[in-house]
Amino acid sequence: MATVDIPEPPAYPIIGHAALIDPSYPLGSIQGFADKYGEIFRMRFPGSNNVVVTTQALVNEVCDEKRFKKVVAGPLNHIRRGVHDGLFTAHDGEEPWGIAHRVLMPAFGPLKIRNMFDEMHDLASQLTLKWARVGPDTHVEVSDDFTRLTLDTIALCSMGYRFNSFYSEDMHPFVQAMADFLTECGEIDRRPLPGMFYRAKDQKLMQDIEIMRSTAEAIVMARKNGTKSESHNDLLTAMLDGVDPKTGKKMTDQSIMDNLITFLIAGHETTSGMLSYSFYQMLTHPETFTKAQQEVDAVCGKGPITVDHLNKLPYINGVLRETLRLTSTIGIFAVTPIEDTVVGNKYFVKKDQPMLTLVSKLHQDASVYGDDAMEFHPERMMDENFNRLNKEFPNCWKPFGNGKRSCIGRPFAWQEALLIMAMLLQNFNFVMKPGYTLSHKQNLTVKPNGFTMRPILRDGLT
Ligand code: HEM
Repeated sequence: MATVDIPEPPAYPIIGHAALIDPSYPLGSIQGFADKYGEIFRMRFPGSNNVVVTTQALVNEVCDEKRFKKVVAGPLNHIRRGVHDGLFTAHDGEEPWGIAHRVLMPAFGPLKIRNMFDEMHDLASQLTLKWARVGPDTHVEVSDDFTRLTLDTIALCSMGYRFNSFYSEDMHPFVQAMADFLTECGEIDRRPLPGMFYRAKDQKLMQDIEIMRSTAEAIVMARKNGTKSESHNDLLTAMLDGVDPKTGKKMTDQSIMDNLITFLIAGHETTSGMLSYSFYQMLTHPETFTKAQQEVDAVCGKGPITVDHLNKLPYINGVLRETLRLTSTIGIFAVTPIEDTVVGNKYFVKKDQPMLTLVSKLHQDASVYGDDAMEFHPERMMDENFNRLNKEFPNCWKPFGNGKRSCIGRPFAWQEALLIMAMLLQNFNFVMKPGYTLSHKQNLTVKPNGFTMRPILRDGLT
C-alpha cells in the first residue's frame, strides 16, 4: 500500500515543538496545530515524539484493541514515579494492573456506587451550606470549591478519610503535595534545559511523592490494625479483602497504596472540571439552566434528594455529556500500535509509536456532529440521540478513554455529578460575573480559569 508522510509543523532542533506550546494551556496549542494540519500530525518534545489523531475516523481506528493498546506517555510517565503500576499508570500487561482491575471492577459497579450515596450527599451538603452562608453578593471560585468537594468525596468514599477541605483555610499537606506533583509532572517533558538545571524541582517532586505515600501508608496501616468490628463501605476495604478471581492473588500493600493515591489523582480534578464547565455552559445558555432546574423541581421537588431521583434526570445527563463533548477535562489519551501498521489507509505508523487521540477535536468533528458541532445542545446527548450517534459513528464520544483501559471511576463520577447538579439547582439561582470570558487552565486536566458566580438562594436550604 502506498503511504504518505505524516505532516509535521516546523520544529526547532533538540526542543522540537516545545517552544510552540503555551505552558498554561498546552491543549489549546495542540488544538491550534490540529486546525492547521488536520486529521493527523506529528509533534516532538525533548522527551517524546508523538503522532496526534483528531477525527472520528482515525480515532475509531486506533480504538481497536486488537491493533492498539494504551501507552503511558507524557505526564502519565512522570506520575508513574509516584504511583508505579497503579491502574492509571500501569503499562499494558503488568500483572498488578490485572489483579487490581479484577478486584476493583465489582467495587465500582452500580450497586456499590449506590451504597456510597450517603457519603456523597454529606459532602455535597457541605458545599451547599457554604454557598448559602457566603450569601448572594459573594463571587464563589467555582473550580476551587468543586475541587474541594470532589477531593473530599473521593477520599471519604475510597478510604474513609476526611480532608475537611470546607472547614480549613490551609490545604492538607497531602493535597498540596499532590497538586504540586501533578503540576510538575505536566511540565517535565517541556523543560528546555538539560536535567541538571532542574535538581531543586526534582527534589521537590520526590518530597511530594514521599508526603503522598506516607499519608497513604498511614491510612492503610491504621485500617489494617483497626478493630474488626469497624465496618467501612469503601474502596480500601474492597482492596484489602478482595481476591482476584483469575489468579487467586490479593493486592499487595504497595499496590493498594498506589491505587489509593491514583483514585485521588484521577478522581477529583476530572469531576470538578466537568462540574465547573457544566455551570459555565448553563449560565451562558440560560434556556438550558431553566430546563435543568425545571427537571430537578419536577423530579426532586423541595424535599431531600435521594439516590432514586438520580436515574430520572435525562436532561441533566445530556448537559453533562454535552459539556464533556465540548470541554473534556482530559483532552487526550494515548495508545500505540501493537505491530507496525497503516492508519487511514495511507499513514504508516511504527510499532510502539505513541499516538495521542485529541479528544477535544474528535468531539468537534463536523462529519459526526454537523455544522453546529461547536454549539452547546444538550438535546443531542440525551439517550436516544446519544445512542444513535454512537452506533452510527463508533467512538465519537470518548471523554472516559478507551476499552479495558477506560475510566473505572465513571459510574462514581456520574452519580456524584448528578447529585451535586440536582442539589445546587434545587437550592440556588446563579449569576456569572459580568464580562467573564472563558479561558482554561491545565495541569493533568483542564478547568475553566477564573470562573466565578454568585449563588442566590431560591428559598431556604433544602
Ligand atoms: C482512567 C477520564 C473520573 C479513576 C481514565 C481515562 C480517562 C478518564 C480519559 C483514561 C486515561 C488513559 O487512557 O490514559 C475521567 C473523567 C472523569 C473521571 C472525564 C470525570 C468526569 C474518575 C474518578 C475516578 C477515576 C471519579 C476514581 C474514582 C480512573 C482510573 C483510571 C481512569 C483508576 C485508570 C483505569 C485503568 O487504566 O485501568 N479516566 N475520569 N476517574 N480513571 Fe477516570
